[in-house]
Amino acid sequence: MKTIDWTPDRASPIPLHKQIEEYIRAKILHGEWTVGTVIPSQRTLAETFGVNRSTVVEALNELSSLGLLEGKTGGGTRIVNTTWSLMASSPPTDWQSYVSAGISQPNMPTIQEINLAEFVPGIIRLGTGELAPELLPDDDILQLFQSRTERKLALGYEEPKGNLFLRQQIAGRLKSIGIQAAASSILIVSGALQALQLISIGLLGKESTILAENPSYLHSVPVFQSAGMKLQSLPMDDDGLETWLVPTYQKQYKASLIYTIPTFHNPTGLVMPEQRRQQLIRLCNEERLPIIEDDVYRELWLDSPPPLPLKSFDQNGNVLYIGSLSKSVSPGLRIGWLVGPEPVIERLADVKMQTDYGSSALSQWAAGEWLAGGRHDMHLARLRENLRNRRDHALEILERNFRDIARWRKPSGGFYIWLRLEKPVSMRSLFEQAKKAGILLNPGPLYDRSAADYLRISYSYASLQELEKGLTILSGIIREHLTASSQG
Ligand SMILES: Cc1ncc(COP(=O)(O)O)c(C=O)c1O
Repeated sequence: MKTIDWTPDRASPIPLHKQIEEYIRAKILHGEWTVGTVIPSQRTLAETFGVNRSTVVEALNELSSLGLLEGKTGGGTRIVNTTWSLMASSPPTDWQSYVSAGISQPNMPTIQEINLAEFVPGIIRLGTGELAPELLPDDDILQLFQSRTERKLALGYEEPKGNLFLRQQIAGRLKSIGIQAAASSILIVSGALQALQLISIGLLGKESTILAENPSYLHSVPVFQSAGMKLQSLPMDDDGLETWLVPTYQKQYKASLIYTIPTFHNPTGLVMPEQRRQQLIRLCNEERLPIIEDDVYRELWLDSPPPLPLKSFDQNGNVLYIGSLSKSVSPGLRIGWLVGPEPVIERLADVKMQTDYGSSALSQWAAGEWLAGGRHDMHLARLRENLRNRRDHALEILERNFRDIARWRKPSGGFYIWLRLEKPVSMRSLFEQAKKAGILLNPGPLYDRSAADYLRISYSYASLQELEKGLTILSGIIREHLTASSQG
């Protein structure tokens, strides 16, 4: 019960507290707000409804006297529903117990909060891992749908591995980065995240262990944990994953897979040099440890093209390779791909059919057409120029405002600057205070629990003006927190 997309009508003759009472009463009686849940605090409700706290108190008191709410000291106000009408009929379903019994783990609370706050009008998104709306090629995509192509628009179901024409286009592009893969070794997925989910439920047993870099994007999505698996962190240095540790970790943890983002790593922006890539391939072959290579940022190089992917050095079919259109074209298309040995791809295609019967045929059609013409490369050239400008601007603002309180590296591609504060601060408080000031942050602990001295700053979403304003305000808020942490 986190979304309240309603405010009382100030022009109405009905008093504000009565309108609020009616709103909450309807939510409870229609079962949208379930028995047992704690409602937001009076202060939060007052802010959300845009009224005084006393107005909220008046409404809540009335609802309590009707037997719909119950206040517990220290435990917030809970929905109880002991009204006569409901007591007379059968008791309502306890949806709360279903919600907590579900197999899938919830996202971290901060991630849930970010997912909602991203849509608050006017908020400055300083951590978002997404292209700004003005960087998305909407006119070009619209044109695709309006133009006549040789291939009929696809409105039916697709074959299990996905639209063949799209897979052929992807196979052609993979060749240019040293990956030999036939269309039959490619599975179209609804974004890279779905590839991870399919791997977790289609290839691994419960209790499996996955090795992953620390920090990592993977620590921010409980996809493997929801399937009953554990993540084990591997350290990184300036060249990425410390590959020579793999044998020791493997002996200790007997992992089923290693997950890595060797190119424009999320959140550090690091790139693993070629020599280390080859070493990782060799060590993992020796250890018989398959690799998931998450390569969704590859095309977003800003200075020079990155080394070839791990998959291009893989002679043994030991690498499952993941790509996506989300970071370079459109996250809304939900189109990604997974490349691997045919038996793996067939197994995961079968699991995918059970899951969603294929990714949107319309999106697959558009993606195929998009990659077939010269559009993609023209778009990438423009995008790189724009992102380069944003990156340089963000670095220049950091230089002016953060020189004495933080350190960072210049990323050579991707979206992120991994900002290290002079010392750890209360990240919860920093997040909340920034949010109050209209700035949305991605705190370091989302990617590494112990990274209370890091923030993931992104230059892909906020405009240049927003970057200037947001980072300047943020520098002030961080300074207050650093002082507080010295005194504390
Ligand atoms: C490393 C990495 N992998 C996968 C994803 C998910 O991408 P998609 O939108 O293709 O599911 C992200 C998105 O942030 C990411 O950073």
